[in-house]
Amino acid sequence: MQIDILTLFPQMFDSPFSFGIFKRAIEHKLVSVNIHNIRDYTHDKHRTVDDYACGGGAGMVLKPEPIFEAVESIKSGISLKQEVDVLPVILLTPQGRPFSQQVALELSKHGHLIFICGRYEGVDERVRKYLVTDEISIGDYVLSGGELAAMVVVDAVARLLPGVLGSEASLVDDSHVSGLLEYPQYTRPAVYREWTVPQVLLSGNHARIAKWRREQAILRTLERRPELLDKTDLCLEERQLVDRLKQS
Ligand code: ADE
Repeated sequence: MQIDILTLFPQMFDSPFSFGIFKRAIEHKLVSVNIHNIRDYTHDKHRTVDDYACGGGAGMVLKPEPIFEAVESIKSGISLKQEVDVLPVILLTPQGRPFSQQVALELSKHGHLIFICGRYEGVDERVRKYLVTDEISIGDYVLSGGELAAMVVVDAVARLLPGVLGSEASLVDDSHVSGLLEYPQYTRPAVYREWTVPQVLLSGNHARIAKWRREQAILRTLERRPELLDKTDLCLEERQLVDRLKQS
């Protein structure tokens, strides 16, 4: 997957993609990340990227021209028109659709993504209307810019790409993938201080372990995020378990 990120602060991206899984994914050419400084697409002496809001009011607004030119420059490097037509151009903004595991999965199906990190009071509306194809928010709070949000989205998407995680199986059990939070995990020692690992996990009985984990995931979701269960695919027996737990 190719990822292009437009920002006024390229240095912010120096480290997040240089460690662990992400670093390996880049080295193995499973993903390539290109950071573009929006200022490089200005033409005036002062490299102006923002201006006063038309109609007045506090704060500056990002100008449309450098953002359009940056995206068009990236698109001009793509030879197939069909690829350009389906290329998502995503603005990170608190006004966007809420980011979720489902959205990460949807984005991971594309071969190429462009992200625009907003700053200041906002972005000229013509960028939203005539350039951007999607707007994403990572939560109902306001960051000082879209950069941290872009890092969050890119990280969540990249780990879904084939080959990026060591074991594909670990994806299935992730919190939110199945609509449930993940079950409790333990490692050795079997007894730490006086706290023991649940006996079932040491039993070697894979069917019992799988059943216990599934039940724990349901219990944990019910305790912490009950609203998730409305959308989770549960069998009849599991629905009955939820009903019993709710009553107890
Ligand atoms: N930019 C500022 N706040 C944001 C948020 N919550 N999500 C995405 N982009 C943002």
